[in-house]
Amino acid sequence: MALKDFLAELDTLESDARAALGSAADAGALEAARVEYLGAKAGRLKAIQKGMGAVDKADKPAAGQRLNAVKQAVEAALEDAQAKLNSGAVKSAAPAIDATRPGRPVRRGRLHPITQTIERMKEIMGRLGFTAVEGPEIEDDWHNFVALNIPEIHPARDPLDNFYLSVASGQQAEGSGQQESQAALGPDGKPLLLRSQTSTVQIRTMETTPPPVRIVSLGRVYRPDTADATHYPMFHQMEGLCVAPGVTMADLKGVLQMFWQSYFGLEGEEHVDVRFRPSFFPFTEPSVECDIWHDGRWMEIGGAGMVDPNVLRAVGYDPEEVTGFAFGLGIERICMRQHGITDIRDLYANDVRFLAQF
Ligand code: DAH
Repeated sequence: MALKDFLAELDTLESDARAALGSAADAGALEAARVEYLGAKAGRLKAIQKGMGAVDKADKPAAGQRLNAVKQAVEAALEDAQAKLNSGAVKSAAPAIDATRPGRPVRRGRLHPITQTIERMKEIMGRLGFTAVEGPEIEDDWHNFVALNIPEIHPARDPLDNFYLSVASGQQAEGSGQQESQAALGPDGKPLLLRSQTSTVQIRTMETTPPPVRIVSLGRVYRPDTADATHYPMFHQMEGLCVAPGVTMADLKGVLQMFWQSYFGLEGEEHVDVRFRPSFFPFTEPSVECDIWHDGRWMEIGGAGMVDPNVLRAVGYDPEEVTGFAFGLGIERICMRQHGITDIRDLYANDVRFLAQF
């Protein structure tokens, strides 16, 4: 074989190898090129080397020199290509994330329907000048009953109507296998309970704030009712309280009228009517049940009245100086009515297919 032909073969190999190594897009392609050109058994360089036996004897040194030079050049090109890949200059053809695939829509979360109702009520009452305050869900006898003028013998204190708290005494009652428990007592030595009404926050607010006060409190209350379509052992109430010199029942009716007009009446021209029916609550005198005219019928929304002088005295207010009104209503009912929800348990089953509708 003529030296010229041998060198031409090497030239072709070198330029082919440079092209293949230079364009390898990932580690796999690079390895394939390495095997094709530099492979120890079946590589193209190896094949050319084997052909050296056919080169004229006198030309062998020159042929060998060129062969070594090409080998080194191809090896250097391989190293360059490897370095380039590692530095990330060439993007892998199979990246971990395929940015070209069609996207899946991001699902947005939303507030629970009860939370939405609470936010809306707070916002409207805020515009009417009522500050939103909170109170504890574990209450004592004083705030849940005594200060609210609920006497010792009142049925509202019935253990069957309240979640009284107990503490485990740590000892097993003999033979029963059950832990003995004792009533958890408040600072006054009376049993603690989960509050059964948000009216407790009236007391807590007035105890710490001199008149005038104008507050709402929206939160959870607890009663041991068996869950059905309209009852649940935990639900939410909004409590309102306004105490100042000269506050009258006309103010109560006006505030509730404006509140419900904003809540239900804004869309469309519907006029929301408010009506009072005589009732009784220990902490108000006189007391009323409040109905609103909505969707073509009267809907009972809660209790209200003028704060009983005994309540004002219990918190150190002077009933000769200030008068006040209060109201309390169930939030679930309103939320359910607004959205056409017919079973209160759906609100708390946490089924996202249900919740995502609101
Ligand atoms: N606390 C009462 C209840 O849970 C509701 C209520 C009635 C609250 C009259 C008031 C009120 O503030 O004046 O049934």
